[in-house]
Amino acid sequence: MPSFTTFLKAALLAFSIAANAQGTPGTLGFALGIHKINDETCKTTEDFVADLKLIKEKTGSSVVRIYTTSQCEAFKTLMPALKETGSTAVVGLWATPPDHFLKEIAALTGDLKEYADQVVGITVGSEHLYRKELTGQELADLIKKVQGEVKTLGLDTPVGFADSWNLMADGSANPAIKQSDIILANAFSYWQGSKITNSTQMLFDDIMQALQHVQDVKGTIDIPFWVGETNWPTGGKNFEDAVPNKDNAETYWYSAVCGMLGWGVNTFVFEAFDEPWKPAEKNNDVEQHWGVMTVDGEPKWDLVCPKPSN
Ligand SMILES: *[C@@H]1O[C@H](CO)[C@@H](O)[C@H](O)[C@H]1NC(C)=O
Repeated sequence: MPSFTTFLKAALLAFSIAANAQGTPGTLGFALGIHKINDETCKTTEDFVADLKLIKEKTGSSVVRIYTTSQCEAFKTLMPALKETGSTAVVGLWATPPDHFLKEIAALTGDLKEYADQVVGITVGSEHLYRKELTGQELADLIKKVQGEVKTLGLDTPVGFADSWNLMADGSANPAIKQSDIILANAFSYWQGSKITNSTQMLFDDIMQALQHVQDVKGTIDIPFWVGETNWPTGGKNFEDAVPNKDNAETYWYSAVCGMLGWGVNTFVFEAFDEPWKPAEKNNDVEQHWGVMTVDGEPKWDLVCPKPSN
């Protein structure tokens, strides 16, 4: 059993995750990068097959998330790899600027029918509200457009969006929530400057606030919901009280990630593999160290739930 405080248990029950009555764990998924070596080299279908096999072997997961369909021809390249390995994906469209969004839609709809079984959901944008690139209503309109395209193909793939938990909790996302068939809420205790000892509580508090608000706005608990991104980095600079290192990342995995799954909440971990070519920002190279595996596919710890007893 995951060890949580009664505070968390009470919060979870109050927020009606009682759908988990039989104790069905949530589904574990991973954000998957589309580049290898550097930003200019795109993964091939063979690279994706190798990634997906490793993810399955080391974690048992067979669900991934990508953030673009057109860049690196990611949709076209990934889909055959998903089919070959019996995996599925939540596929993201990069929603801005408008001419790029049209390219993303075209890259999706061309082959979506052929790969309908591989696509469990479509997200319109990632954190566009957080970056103030779109309003809730603008995002809702884009979601509606993609829903129309999917329907035109005779498919019923759920379409929604992914954004930071606080934009859901504070009402900014309401029009997009209303329009969506699937919702992903991102939450990083590291970027909230949390001590590792409080990081699990913070993730649960964030996600439950987002989920409660989503359920209120939808008027139902019957909405596909995922933690869209979470994890703890193994390198980079301290952020306030958050210290990135392997021990803390391992602690976060067994407590926060395994805990969420244990409560029946689907969770995408950001991310499967390190991306060492990502640039340092504000003198912090933390973006290179979010993988649960190294760039060479070595697990940084035993990637199972719950923690193995030794
Ligand atoms: C621990 O996390 C909770 C939930 O996010 C937060 O309310 C509280 O302020 C945090 N405590 C500390 C000491 O940071």
